Amino acid sequence: MLQHDSPAPSTHDADWWRQAVVYQVYPRSFADSDGDGIGDIPGVTSRLPYLADLGVDAVWLSPFYPSQLADGGYDVADYRDVDPRLGTLEDFDAMVAEADRLGLRVMVDIVPNHSSDQHVWFQQALAAAPGSAARERYVFRDGRGPDGELPPTDWPSSFGGPAWTRVPDGQWYLHLYAPQQPDFNWDNPEVREDFHTTLRFWSDRGVAGFRVDVAHGLAKDLRAPLRDLGEQLSYQPGALPLDGSHPLWDRDAVHEIYRGWRQVFDAYDPPRFAVAEAWVGASRRTAYASADGLGQAFNFDFLGAPLDATEMFTIIDAALADARRAGATSTWVLSNHDVVRHVSRYALPGDFTKQDIEAWLLTDGREPEPDLPKGMRKARAAALLMLALPGSAYVYQGEELGLPEVADLDRADLRDPMWIRSDGRVKGRDGCRVPLPWTAEGASFGFGRGGSWLPQPADWGRYAAETQRGDKESFLELYREALRLRRTLVTDEGLEWVGPREGVRQGLLHFARTGDWHTVSNLGDEPVPLPRGEVLLASGPLTGDKLPPWTTAWLRATAPGR
Ligand code: NOJ
Repeated sequence: MLQHDSPAPSTHDADWWRQAVVYQVYPRSFADSDGDGIGDIPGVTSRLPYLADLGVDAVWLSPFYPSQLADGGYDVADYRDVDPRLGTLEDFDAMVAEADRLGLRVMVDIVPNHSSDQHVWFQQALAAAPGSAARERYVFRDGRGPDGELPPTDWPSSFGGPAWTRVPDGQWYLHLYAPQQPDFNWDNPEVREDFHTTLRFWSDRGVAGFRVDVAHGLAKDLRAPLRDLGEQLSYQPGALPLDGSHPLWDRDAVHEIYRGWRQVFDAYDPPRFAVAEAWVGASRRTAYASADGLGQAFNFDFLGAPLDATEMFTIIDAALADARRAGATSTWVLSNHDVVRHVSRYALPGDFTKQDIEAWLLTDGREPEPDLPKGMRKARAAALLMLALPGSAYVYQGEELGLPEVADLDRADLRDPMWIRSDGRVKGRDGCRVPLPWTAEGASFGFGRGGSWLPQPADWGRYAAETQRGDKESFLELYREALRLRRTLVTDEGLEWVGPREGVRQGLLHFARTGDWHTVSNLGDEPVPLPRGEVLLASGPLTGDKLPPWTTAWLRATAPGR
């Protein structure tokens, strides 16, 4: 048996995040209080009782800061304010107070790699001369070629096109994302100090933690002459070197920045917590998750893999070992605002592959026909698997309703810079950002009193929270019951695999946690015998003492093993 031992159970408040369920709110698409079609902070506050009833521990808000929305709010014009369309700082404080009353913690998204081009610092940089202190907060360089008309390097933007844009005086500035998202110069102490101020600003307002956007991008090798990437043009985690030698991504120097942040976090009681969004190879993740760094790092291997027993076993086992090495806990993510919703991913023909998904997001007509009932069934099995694992689960808004991707948005409605920057070749991420349905009927299905900034499908009401509440077979009730039970079942951070090798061959994952809490996931095509014991919860109907394909069951085992 392979075993992951547990440290002593954590009871101190500072450790709340180690086995938390965090719910991701994408504020513009969650709930709209004023009928303008855009979700807002008072909307979030009004729905916090729903989240408390769902049973999550914390809420993470994607950016709600002033922004021209060139990248859905990840282009921040002011890090220490609320976008007027979404509310005010007083609304934010009221939201935190209500969360506190309901026993929910609040986390916010921090976007340190780049600001918006509307940020006062960037406006000052544009108005200032080359070589000025204002330009030193960003990355301005002269171009190549006789008149500097060529970009300084071959670096590509993650959204397509070059990562450099020229300004009227002839210099170029760096943006690893959209041109409206200029990259900061993290070699500049002023930038470092300003982010400490921002972290304190939100921590002082009662925020418990931070999700750190593009955490692996801050420390760039900006020494002259800048290095071309040549063969290393791909930014995929698998393509990045594992020794920190890439000029842009995952450089070792980034951890010095986070050691500074840790000092800010640890000045609070309880210390503030952070989770890194770092698209890096698994072996590089531990450094972000270390106790003197951010504390935790997203594990996107789980999200990127098909629901296959061999793959899942390998990923889970490695993630638990990595987290333990870092002194952290692992994270488990099935969906977020950047990927095709997993109900739809699992609905793709055969086992989905990265290529399938890319094909689906492309607009060249090669779109596969999803089998939604299959996707739903797999997604329910995946949910119980995820929620049984030691560590923290991050649930993306609407996942608990079983929402599918809205893959057929009208082209005219698409807003994602991926769509715009790829000249309409890639659809982008709007399909997972369609505003939530709360009620079966009514204007924007209860999202707000008016419309919704992205159109909702006509059948959205069948997924509404109101439609599902009280229906024992529904997605929502599965999540509610799982989260209720999880609170009573989770004790320590240990996990013991039961018969992993033989099980995995049959498409089966079986593990036990302290207290004889057994989880069995049948990810194969044939029914398998259920271990003996009391079934606490199952993701789908059981047939006698058999666990049907694509089903997960939680049991209190009466005898060890199967
Ligand atoms: C990751 C965020 O999740 C994504 O939405 C955004 O486009 C990029 N970082 C750039 O900020």
